[in-house]
Order: sequence, then structure tokens, then C-alpha cells
Amino acid sequence: MINKIVEGFSKLNKEEKINWLVDNYTNNPQTIKKILTQYWNEDSEIQKLHEEFSENTISNFYMPFGIAPNFLINGSIYAIPMVIEESSVVAAASKSAKFWLERGGFKTKILGNLKLGHVHFLYKGDKSKLNNWFSNYLKNILLIETEEITKNMRNRGGGITNIELLDKTNDLNDYFQIQVTFDTQDSMGANFINSCLEQMSRIIIEQIQRSEMFTQIEKESLQIVMSILSNYTPNCIARAEVSCKIEDLGDENGISSEDFAWKFEQAICIAEVDPFRAATHNKGIMNGVDSVVIATGNDFRAVEACVHTYASRTGKYKSLTHCYIENGKFHYWIDLPLAIGIVGGLTQLHPLVIASLQILGNPSAEKLMQIIAVAGLAQNFAAIRSLITSGIQKGHMKMHLLNILNQLGATEQEKQYLVNYFKDKTVSYHQVISEFNKLKKQ
Ligand code: MEV
Repeated sequence: MINKIVEGFSKLNKEEKINWLVDNYTNNPQTIKKILTQYWNEDSEIQKLHEEFSENTISNFYMPFGIAPNFLINGSIYAIPMVIEESSVVAAASKSAKFWLERGGFKTKILGNLKLGHVHFLYKGDKSKLNNWFSNYLKNILLIETEEITKNMRNRGGGITNIELLDKTNDLNDYFQIQVTFDTQDSMGANFINSCLEQMSRIIIEQIQRSEMFTQIEKESLQIVMSILSNYTPNCIARAEVSCKIEDLGDENGISSEDFAWKFEQAICIAEVDPFRAATHNKGIMNGVDSVVIATGNDFRAVEACVHTYASRTGKYKSLTHCYIENGKFHYWIDLPLAIGIVGGLTQLHPLVIASLQILGNPSAEKLMQIIAVAGLAQNFAAIRSLITSGIQKGHMKMHLLNILNQLGATEQEKQYLVNYFKDKTVSYHQVISEFNKLKKQ
């Protein structure tokens, strides 16, 4: 009998989990079981390590780990590891890297490295009492009462840099926040921030009960709703930029440098004014950003959430890259909020993450932020460059050709022949099938 509901799934061992799953959820249990077990690492230590990252793990999910070489960043050369399944992204990044290598490279800097967290609470009493209590008493107590948690971070040069009381009652009745600013040094800092905030929420309740300033009704009206970091970090920003004389922009696609610069600027302007284009424009940037974020074991969902919030900070969703032309020079840059780390989380656990960080020269978190911003800018440059000249499909489909051939079940020999055949032709799905069928008939 099919049984789609299970009790105690997490208690089953890996094989029992798989057996239950394939028996109850698939039509071909043996085949699916074979696929799932095929992806187990033959080294049981490595397999165990990966299983323990998450819960109910039954297999591993491979992603291509690629390298985009030749990135000149602030005078040093980097080979950037990128984990991404989409064809043509790594090739595009590499092409941009080469282009800017010959034009002075990328310049980067950190505009800020602070993170935020909030104790969200409701309070129905006298606001001025709350303000006075916070400024004259609570703020200091919160710092003292979190000293145990912040000790190590303070020793490393970080910790809590500010605590504010924010009145949000214009947005929601009785709503206030304790907003805490953190410097988490080389860690992304999520656990550190959340531990501090949860400790603070306990102290707030404890302290208001003891206070003689508030009436009993006011004391009881203060309700903590939740304490959590914000994934929006507008003060944790890396800037990456490039610039060159317009005449040095010379493009291989037969467009003049002046036309290229002008059209490029227009493409950025369009993404500044039109959210439909901005979404696609920024998606391309995130192809570069996410792939380095994943390769270095960071939380790409956090980065995505932050970046898109930042892109809409003016109330309108806009381009993350910017461009202007002045005195015959082309200037192009990106400001990216990136809350990432090189310690904590998976960063020191996943062998491929350790390898990625080493390939990048074991950067500090700030350096890694700058490398990631470069990957985003490079990706956008490659996309816009194609879009305003040859169109995106030419390069993209060429890179996608192998996927199509694999889907068709082409042999190595057939692949070789067809890759060679399409070298100087436009690749379309239709055309590939037609040429493949012709080859088969021969
Ligand atoms: C595809 O993954 C990304 C692009 O659509 C980005 C863009 O249009 O700028 C090529």
C-alpha cells in the first residue's frame, strides 16, 4: 500500500529513508535508488561530512565548479571560482576579465562593513518614558549584559557599534524597534547577531519589570514580538569599478568605440528607469555574484534578499550597475551590499569551499566582498556588451550546444563533429536537432 505520510522519517537511516521514498513516491524505485546512491561519495568521511550539513540527506547534488581566470583587481591577479549550472556565465566572466585586464583592471573598495539586527516589540505606554529609559539606562545595560557574548568578537576588533530605539508607530500601531549595529569582522555573523538580540530581548523584559518609571499597565503592554538580524545590510557595501578612454573600448563586433559607449550607457539608463529590464539586468549580475557566493560557502539566499532590497531602496526597483561618460572617459561601477564571511558556517568545513578560498588567496571577508562585486560587474559588462552588439543568443547558444547534444544522447564522436560544424554558425535548438538527425542518417 502506498504510504505518503511518514512518522519519524528523520530517525530512519539513509538507506531506509531512500527505500521508503522510492517505494512511496516513484514509479521506478530501483532506478531512482540507483541514481540517488550513485552520487554518494566513495570516501565515507566526506559523505558523512556533507550529510551532516543539513537534515534528512539522502544524496549529494552536484553543480559545476568552474574557474574564471585573468581578473586584475587592485593590481593583483585572481582566478575566480564559480559554482553555477548555467552555461555561458563562466565564459562571459572570463571574457570580461580579459577585456579589463588589458584596460587597467578592476578597482574596488569597501564603503562599509556594518550589519543590523532588531528586537521588534510593541509598547502601548508613554513614549517619552520609553525614550528616557532607553537613553539613560537600558542602552548601557544591553551593552553590559551582552558582554559575555560579544567578548571574542570584541577581541577580534568587532562587536556592537551602536544601539538605537526606533519609533515605528507611524507604520504600525505601538511598534518599536531596538536597532543594533554590529561589526562581525570576518564572519557573516548571523549566529552572533541573533544570540545578542535574543539576550537583549530577555534583558528588556527583565529590566522593565524592575523599573520604577513605568506603571504596571505600561510594563505589561511591552511585548517582544521577535529578535532577528536583518538580511538587508545597506551599510555593508563593496564597490567595484572600471574606467577607460572611450577609444579603448574598441569592440570586436564591428561597432565603433563611441557608439559602443553611448549604447552601453543607454542600456544602463534603461535598467535605471524600467523595473522589467532592471530585474533581468540584475539577474545577470547575480549570475556572477551567486556563483562566487556559493563557491565560497556563503548564504546566497541572504545575499539575494539583500541585493534586491537594496536595488529597490528608492521605492523603485533599479539597476545595480551605473555608468557615465565624461571628458572622453567611460566610467562604470557597481555598489553591492554583501553580508558574507570567511569564517563560520560552511566556510571552514566544505572541502571545496576551503579550496575556493585558497584559490582566492585566503581573502579577508572584506576582500572577498570586493571580489564578489567584481564578479557581478564583470557579468553585467559581458551581458550588456552582447546585448547591444551581437545579441545574447549567439554566445549563449554556442555554450548551450553541449547541453542540447547531451539531451539528444549524442556520442562523443557526434558531439565533436557537431561542435565543429556549429563553430561558424548560429546555434538554435531546431538547427541542432536537424543536423543531429542528418548525422544519424549518415
Ligand atoms: C541570463 O542569465 C542573464 C541575462 O539575461 C542578463 C541581462 O539580460 O543583462 C543575459
